[in-house]
Amino acid sequence: MSIPTVRRDERGIPTLYVNDRPFFCRAGEIHNSSASDLSFAGEKLWPALRGLNMNCVIAPVYWELIEETEGAYDFSLVDGLIRQAREEQMKLVFLWFGLWKNAESMYVPGWMKLDSETYFRAEKVNGEKLNTISPLCAAAVEKDRMAFTALMRHIRELDAQENTVITIQVENEIGLLGTDRDYSRAAQESFSSPVPDVIAAVSGKSGTWTEVYGEDAGERFMAWAFACAVETIAASGKAEYDLPCYANAWLRQSPWYPGSYPSGGPVTEVQPIWRAAAPSLFAFGPDVYVPYCADVMDAYASEQNPLFIPEIRKDAVAASYALYAFGEKNAICFSPFGIEDLALDPSQLDRPPMELMAALNIDPSAFDITGSRECLAAVYDLLQQLEPLYLQYRGTDHLKVCVRHGEYDYSAFLRFRSYDLAVSYGPRVTAKPLGCAYVIELNDNRFLLAGMNCSISFHAKPGTGHKVDVLRLEEGTLQSGSWNRGRVLNGDEKMPIRFGDMPSVVMIELFRF
Ligand code: DGJ
Repeated sequence: MSIPTVRRDERGIPTLYVNDRPFFCRAGEIHNSSASDLSFAGEKLWPALRGLNMNCVIAPVYWELIEETEGAYDFSLVDGLIRQAREEQMKLVFLWFGLWKNAESMYVPGWMKLDSETYFRAEKVNGEKLNTISPLCAAAVEKDRMAFTALMRHIRELDAQENTVITIQVENEIGLLGTDRDYSRAAQESFSSPVPDVIAAVSGKSGTWTEVYGEDAGERFMAWAFACAVETIAASGKAEYDLPCYANAWLRQSPWYPGSYPSGGPVTEVQPIWRAAAPSLFAFGPDVYVPYCADVMDAYASEQNPLFIPEIRKDAVAASYALYAFGEKNAICFSPFGIEDLALDPSQLDRPPMELMAALNIDPSAFDITGSRECLAAVYDLLQQLEPLYLQYRGTDHLKVCVRHGEYDYSAFLRFRSYDLAVSYGPRVTAKPLGCAYVIELNDNRFLLAGMNCSISFHAKPGTGHKVDVLRLEEGTLQSGSWNRGRVLNGDEKMPIRFGDMPSVVMIELFRF
């Protein structure tokens, strides 16, 4: 079997190939501590994921548990998780919780935490030390590199035949909180030197960081410092086992200043620096808890950055965003966070404390799971059944998917060859999916329509003077890309096309007169 890889398909779309076939991660990321005990995972985690129609789980690998004693690696948790995933027929994306997790160094082994002389922390301008080891601490980066490389070697030895592990996230939500940059001695020295060649090439300027980037210098400097550290780690790991690697970003969001979100993390504004300094990474994935998820997807899916969403809100709107992510944005991965919660009774769920939500700048409604399980499971199933058609039509003008982007986004107008489609979104209602439509033009007159919380009407092209009516309208289901028709809707049932809270599909043939 070939190693999992991300490469462009025949239409030029960056695609994850697993066992030489395109693989779309209908994923969920588990809670931070859920992979730290195999008995817990066996009893509580895996059963909770059954029935969601996922094909992939995103799970942490903890440096603090792999190298409790310096230099002695213990991979038993990794082995157990891979074994369990295989039993569940699930692929794994591993999160390397190494030097940095949510802008802190909370997952470094105890021996490293206790030696803050050797493994020095980043500092604020007033000398206050952060609980974040500086990316300029070469000794710490080297230890992380060694551990990560040993991990990748181990995964290769265990998994190169089966390809259960398909992608690796290197570190987690990197950056510095509470300061625009590191002011430690090492950082001061580096910051006052001329920018390195790679930055001169990206910016087209030379000089000191401040001369090149002005007021943005602090964040740009941190982006470079973190990207270099991650490149050292990722490149060495990939030399052992060349799995696709990416980094994730805590979004740049209100109140917008670097340090209110982790300064130096791979947000869109600094991705050119990350791309140049960390060429081993194939993507920078957004962690999306804000209410305007579709805008974030639009911003993070670009020619240079395939959309890989390792974390997204898990309220019912996630189902709509999943359709949009794959259908319109060619996502490689879509993954609500804390996915195992979806098995719980919403009223029994321990809501994360407000202080945690505030500290993480997370919209609390993002964690409301009312109605999420049914909608997400149905959409993941639909995506699976659509896959053969999706592969046929993605990247062409015959597939268009829209989702309600914001409060004042009421409708979408989708142009096809012989007809235009108007999609009217229903109102945004708590614990319900957002309006969204997934349209495939099968031939000039025939469309497959799927959606939620919206209605669709059809228009002849302007200037033709034609009217449009339905030749045939069928309810039905898809199975591996084949249409199984249900009722043929005519007479009293020949109504406008409306989609409710759960995803459904219709086949429609139109004519003009
Ligand atoms: C984003 C982080 O990347 C996750 O590990 C987790 O801490 C969530 N925030 C919040 O629960």
